[in-house]
Amino acid sequence: MEMHWFEKWAVNSLSAFYLRWYLLPRLLTLIDGPLAGRGLVLGPGIGWETLALAEKFPEVTLIGVDYDVDQVERARRNLKAGPSLVTRVAFEQGDATALSFSAGSFDFAFELNVFHHIRDYPAAIREVHRVLKPGGRVFLQDLSERFFLPGVRQLFPPESRFTRAELVRELDATGLDVETATGQAIIFLRARRR
Ligand SMILES: C[S@@+](CC[C@H](N)C(=O)[O-])C[C@H]1O[C@@H](n2cnc3c(N)ncnc32)[C@H](O)[C@@H]1O
Repeated sequence: MEMHWFEKWAVNSLSAFYLRWYLLPRLLTLIDGPLAGRGLVLGPGIGWETLALAEKFPEVTLIGVDYDVDQVERARRNLKAGPSLVTRVAFEQGDATALSFSAGSFDFAFELNVFHHIRDYPAAIREVHRVLKPGGRVFLQDLSERFFLPGVRQLFPPESRFTRAELVRELDATGLDVETATGQAIIFLRARRR
């Protein structure tokens, strides 16, 4: 669950660039309609993606839940320093495999580069399913086992390794219908809760 020190340094130094030049444009193509309501962001790290999504979609409120207290503090500092989003965005410490929210309390969820950090990632999928309303969407980007080549996996050690097909099967078995899934090493996927 805790990131290796090198990965934490790399993520914190580069996530703004990664977000702007790679992640966000691709993520936005997954969002096939207006986004509104209450959204969960799993593992938001220092918060850049959550803040960018809140700016892009003025009808949403977002709660980011990260396991790492330092990251939550950094995300809160970034929230306060930026444009006025404090009424629509909050960051909390928590565990994606045991969320503190009631069943059916979110309209949608984002999962960005977190499942590969969780040994029991199917438990996190079950939690996403539990807290989403029926019909709620999941927007996901994660790294498959193909990403973790020798060398890469020493610098960015995963707790879980899965193929795209395995991830799709796990989501489907939990009650989340996968609507689109692309990429073999870097997976982009959208699912809907049954
Ligand atoms: C690689 S970073 C991704 C950060 C950000 N989402 C991004 O894509 O740049 C993984 C994040 O997941 C968090 N994390 C790991 N295990 C978690 C868990 N069980 N529950 C919630 N967050 C977790 C880590 O603390 C870290 O901030």
